[in-house]
Amino acid sequence: MAEKKTDLFDPVKLGPFTLRNRIAMAPLTRSRAGSDGVVTAMTAEYYAQRASAGLIISEATNITQQGRGYAYTPGIYSEEQVAAWRQVTDAVHAKGGLIFCQLWHVGRISHPSLQPDGALPVAPSAIKPEGQAFTEQGFQPHVTPRALELDEIPGLIQDYRHATECAKRAGFDGVEIHAANGYLLDQFLRDKTNKRTDRYGGSIENRVRLMLEVTEAVIATWSADRVGIRLSPISPANDIADSNPEAVFSYAVEQLNRFGLSYLHVVEGATGGPREVENGFDLQKLRKIFKGPYMANNGYDLTLAEKARAANEADLIAFGRPFIANPDLVERLQSGAPLNEPDPKTFYGGGAEGYIDYPTLDRQVAE
Ligand code: PHB
Repeated sequence: MAEKKTDLFDPVKLGPFTLRNRIAMAPLTRSRAGSDGVVTAMTAEYYAQRASAGLIISEATNITQQGRGYAYTPGIYSEEQVAAWRQVTDAVHAKGGLIFCQLWHVGRISHPSLQPDGALPVAPSAIKPEGQAFTEQGFQPHVTPRALELDEIPGLIQDYRHATECAKRAGFDGVEIHAANGYLLDQFLRDKTNKRTDRYGGSIENRVRLMLEVTEAVIATWSADRVGIRLSPISPANDIADSNPEAVFSYAVEQLNRFGLSYLHVVEGATGGPREVENGFDLQKLRKIFKGPYMANNGYDLTLAEKARAANEADLIAFGRPFIANPDLVERLQSGAPLNEPDPKTFYGGGAEGYIDYPTLDRQVAE
């Protein structure tokens, strides 16, 4: 019997879209926007170079200045930001690609120097994270955040609505709600960071509430088939932990079923690190609970991606770092060509170097 070839490179329907293949570009922070969160022409070039991905998910993009935790990350809340992102989405569409905007609020993973009027970052509870914030003045230790007041929650949900409207006007094809990696929504999900005694803390049902209310608001603003969500159930990223992640995320995913979302995107393992972690659980459990497309991410190479597809363990595979160094990653994987190695020194900040100058195969052959 002939070996069945992989369907990784075949077109696939995702809600109203036909993706050119099952390979997504994962969200990747590159810290090359202005201090005002406005992206540049280089960003349009960067994403257009990578438009052969089935779906691009933008770098994490702040929904408000309060949501900002890293210097030079972009925003999606001002008119200038919308106009600049429009250049990006036009450039991607001109190459036949699709791009979602990842909606980001970092919560406590910030620093007063990044906040409006030097305010304290906000969080479910006033608990200081380990680690340092990347500010315009360099790395600075995190501070103890301020716990959000109950009456601030509707305004926060409104911020997600506003950012979704902005993403729509900027020409994105959809949005991805960032509920992963120890940022605000993840801080609400976990009992290490959420010690609230109101309806947003305590029981699992209460801790999952904000993520569900945000999701409801975002889909009401646009359309469920243009909204994905990203979770990192067993990642320790940004000093996050929970006493029972399996229970929290099984319940969360079950509840997400009611919305008919575009996809569930799962960081499998430690974000940007090992796929197997201590005290983890089998994430295929979530794939089985979710009644929609499942996008797998973290440490995938071609072999692992083909294996996941063959076993139907994922519908889409998101590649992160390989996309930094290989604008034509899809073509390289498909033809078995070698990959360029990414240079970590140019991951964050700086200019064209390590951003838009990685060669495609054509260019390497020609040179
Ligand atoms: C990062 O800048 O390293 C980063 C940003 C957003 C994430 C994860 C990592 O979700």
